[in-house]
Order: sequence, then C-alpha cells, then structure tokens
Amino acid sequence: TSTATKAFRGEILHFLADPAKVAEEESYQYFEDGLLLIKNGLVVAVGNATDLLATLPVGLEVTQYDNGLIMPGFIDTHVHYPQTEMIASYGAQLLEWLENYTFPEEKQFSDFEHGKRVAEFFLTQLLDAGTTTALVFGTVHKESVDAFFTIAQQKKLRMICGKVLMNQNCPEDLQDTTESGYTDSKALIEKWHNTDRLQYAITPRFAPTCSTEQLHKAGELLKEYPGVYLHTHLSENKNEIAWVSELFPDSDGYLDVYDKSNLLGRRSIFAHGVHLHDHECQRLSETNSAIAFCPTSNLFLGSGCFNLKQAEEFDVNVGLGTDIGAGTSFSMLTTLNEAYKTQQLRGDKLSPFKSFYLATLGGAVALDLEGTIGNFTKGAEADFIVLDYQATPLMARRIARCKTLTEKLFVLSILGDDRHVKATHIMGEKV
Ligand code: GUN
Ligand code: ZN
Repeated sequence: TSTATKAFRGEILHFLADPAKVAEEESYQYFEDGLLLIKNGLVVAVGNATDLLATLPVGLEVTQYDNGLIMPGFIDTHVHYPQTEMIASYGAQLLEWLENYTFPEEKQFSDFEHGKRVAEFFLTQLLDAGTTTALVFGTVHKESVDAFFTIAQQKKLRMICGKVLMNQNCPEDLQDTTESGYTDSKALIEKWHNTDRLQYAITPRFAPTCSTEQLHKAGELLKEYPGVYLHTHLSENKNEIAWVSELFPDSDGYLDVYDKSNLLGRRSIFAHGVHLHDHECQRLSETNSAIAFCPTSNLFLGSGCFNLKQAEEFDVNVGLGTDIGAGTSFSMLTTLNEAYKTQQLRGDKLSPFKSFYLATLGGAVALDLEGTIGNFTKGAEADFIVLDYQATPLMARRIARCKTLTEKLFVLSILGDDRHVKATHIMGEKV
C-alpha cells in the first residue's frame, strides 16, 4: 500500500443510510464532479472536486475517471467458491441439484492445489465484476479454506470464509463429525480470523445435513470466538422446509432449529429466507441477524421470490448474494436486474437507490462491517469501483437519454454487467 495521498476525480456516489429508512435524498451523497482522497489505503475525504482541490497541495496525483461512476466495491453476502465450475447445471430444484451436481463437485476440494486454482479464478471473476468483499462457503475440507484464504491474502482482499460443517444426510465421503468439524474449524479460526483482512465464518451447511449435536457445537464455538461469523442457509425451498420439520420435530420451524443452538446474532448471515413466517422475521430482527437475498439463484432453482418488503417491515438486515453455483452470474449488476424482477413478480417495488444501497452499504451492514467497507466514510478501506457508461453501445445510447441520477442507476442495474466495470481498486490500488 502506497503511503502517498492519491486522488480520484469523477462522478461519485455512495450511501450513508438505507433509503427505505430515511428520506431518499438523505440516504446518499452524490458528486457530479467529485474527488475521493485516499492515504495508506484508507479514505481521507470525499466531496466536491473543486472545493476539495482548493485545500490540497498543488502537484497532487489526480486520476480522472470520465463517463463513469465511482462507487464503493460491491459486497456479495453469500457465495460458494467451490461451485464456480459447476455453474449452470441443468434442471433441478435445490435437493436434487445438491445430490446430482453439488456434492460430487465439492469432493475435489480435499486437494489444496485444486482449491487454490479454483480460488484464483473465482476471485478474479469477483474482481472483474466489481465485487471486493464476499462471505464465502468452502467445502467440508479444511484444505478448501486454507486454499481460499491463501489466495485472498495474496490479493489483499477483505474476505470471509469458513469450512462447511455437515455430518449427516449427504455422501459419506463428504461428512465430518461433530468433533472433527469443531476441531478443524477452531484451527482455521486460530490461523486465519483477523489475519490481514480475512475473517472466519462458522459454516453449518444447512439444518438437514447437521445433527442437533453438531449445531449445538457450532453454537459453542461461536460463543468461544466473539467476532467470528455464522453463515448458513435458511428456508430456501419448500421441500427443504418440509424436510427440516420432519428432521427436527421439536423445533418451531426452520429458524428455530438454529435458534435452539444459539446460532442467531449480529454476525449471523442466513442465505435465502425466501419463505419466512412473520415470527421468524421478528426473531431475525431482534437478534440483529441478516439475510442474504440471492435472486439469480432463487430464480434458477425455482425457489421463489424473496419478500423484501416483509424484511423491511421487520427491520431485518439484508444484503445481496450471488450464490454461485446456484446463482447464475458473478455480477452484482446482473443480480440487481434479477432482484428487480423478483419484486415485480411479487407486485412490489425495488427502487434504484435501494438496489445500489443493498449492493454496497447494505451488504456492509449485514456483515457488521459498516465504517470498514461499503461507503466512503472517513477511515473506511478504499475498495472502490468505476462503472463505465460507455462500455457497450446500448448502455451508452440509453444513458445518453437519462435526465436524472435515479434513471441512470436504474439503467445501470438493468443493462449492466461485468463489461461495465472499468476499474476495481483494492485499498486504493487498481487491480
Ligand atoms: N442449501 C444447502 N446447501 C446449499 C448450496 O450449496 N446451495 C444452495 N443454494 N442452497 C443450499
Ligand atoms: Zn448457497
């Protein structure tokens, strides 16, 4: 990280609050000709370029970005790196898809070298798509997490990952035990949690593949290591939910299975939550837990359309996830496109400001990383991207017609993809 002060000039947008919670115009800061000042990889200031430049020494290195929009890097709050190469596997809903494609694919990750090769490709895809932080599933093998963190560390990224816990209802050669899952997770936490920008997530795959004993042990581990995350799946698919109620007859629904093992909390992230009861939203809210909304996956697996309005009513933290390889794109812009459509199908609205909030600051809040990533607040880590209005002829033509910022953001969210990410910067440095 260079110690010189660096400045980036161009159109700048970042969020200060959830547009659903404050007046929309108070939820963001927008500078048509803005300046982002960075020192030691951290944000020093953001503001109007002419005003800020007047206060700065002449001869300051200024990088100009024209015809684009500078914003904080996207945050993917739920994704499986080992499923990268099995994306677009045909014709099944969740439980069959896991059996037929996912479990066989994940067996390869007992091999550390294989894990590193896939992690390298995965992280390159994320950065190309403008995603700078992700909450990531490994596989049951501890080697998969060692491999992932090794590559993420080389790239100086802020990443969260964990070894999958699963000791039942899956292929035997993919099972751990309550004891080995605990011991392996503990060793990985000791080795990686808060090493550079890396953090650990205790990762029970989902209730069906974990014994009650294993879930309880995960809860104990979480208590032993405050600051470590909890990452799992919740209420994604109707057959899955029915299966959970058979497997755990003493629980009052799916979320309660996790609750009974003390797995809810400020750093707990539950992927999907497509079919939640009000009382479950209430419980997620009062424990400050978060949901990862994964629209491309929910559509691809035919899981359903996430009820964002319900989450807002109960004030549940929500981030966006690609859920690769059930998700169908690494691009958060493409994810916003499909998020919008899921809300259309529900008869609900997803405003462009809410969309870009979810992709940036909303993800940071969901991960309890507000102030560290997700916006350009002073002292935040300077992971940012530049979107390009002219990367494709159609985008250029459509943007040329836009009269307002709202309209431009909407067009970016519907027509945009990785081609429209001109640059990705990590701690101020272009990658
Ligand atoms: N539920 C349990 N495992 C998985 C997985 O790998 N992907 C998705 N989408 N849902 C799951
Ligand atoms: Zn998933």
